[in-house]
Amino acid sequence: MTDHVQTERQDAVFTIRMARPEKKNALTVAMYDAMDRGLRDAVADDGVRVILLAGADGVFTSGNDLREFATVPASLEESAVVRFLGTLATCPKPVVAAVSGLAIGIGTTMLLHCDLVVADPATRFSLPFINLGLVPEGASSLLLPRLVGTLRASELLLLGDMFDAAAAERYGIINKVSAPGAADVEAMQWAVQLAAKAPTALRLSKALIRSETPGTGARILEEARHFGAQLKGPEFREAVAAFMAKRPPSFSSPPAASAPA
Ligand code: COA
Repeated sequence: MTDHVQTERQDAVFTIRMARPEKKNALTVAMYDAMDRGLRDAVADDGVRVILLAGADGVFTSGNDLREFATVPASLEESAVVRFLGTLATCPKPVVAAVSGLAIGIGTTMLLHCDLVVADPATRFSLPFINLGLVPEGASSLLLPRLVGTLRASELLLLGDMFDAAAAERYGIINKVSAPGAADVEAMQWAVQLAAKAPTALRLSKALIRSETPGTGARILEEARHFGAQLKGPEFREAVAAFMAKRPPSFSSPPAASAPA
């Protein structure tokens, strides 16, 4: 149980809200479990037609909780984050995301599994896995090149720099930039509009659109195997030590002998 995820049903729209503002909504195991449960509840409830993912206090999420991640799960493939990603990736009902402030790491990768995404103009996005000595997650290594092209995906995943909402819209990672401070309201408007559509046609349409991306589940697991191994290694240890000490990481040691060529 956690208070850091709030769920609410308003007519046919089920909202899942990340709410841990003091840590910029960094996501813990308990939060992933609660979000996974929220998604499953929303799918099981015949009265729910649309799911809305949102943040709180002007922040979507700063990604995986790095302090908690430092206590490495035995098998990432069976972890709460991978379970949540799998449930989101296979969710049969439309998911709308309202993004503001920060969409870091999984804050961006989860958007690749949403059907409509609205972001506040001041949102900062990034896929900083490489800067943490980690690899892509959430099937972003599969979905992003298809969405934005190989070169742009390489730029985002290999440099790991921040990009803004205008760039995210240009790349096709979000549908539109909202008026300042209005991402929640505009995303809810789309959710309500979707909820009024013929529900069977809507679900079939989503399934058809998403059928273009077979292999997503397998890629989530393949990434998780590498991600889990990196979490146990010296590169991530150095990245977390640097984050906690508020200094840049140094990756000057040669790669481990076991690393793939
Ligand atoms: N995991 C754990 N704690 C986090 C966090 C994360 N992903 N993101 C932010 N926090 C914590 C900070 O440690 C800080 O805690 P403190 O007040 O106890 O020191 C608090 O949230 C506020 O964050 P702060 O860094 O002061 O905010 P900022 O606006 O200056 O910077 C970020 C925001 C997101 C740029 C910065 O916090 C950051 O780089 N976070 C890590 C992002 C990341 O690498 N995510 C993982 C992807 S796999």
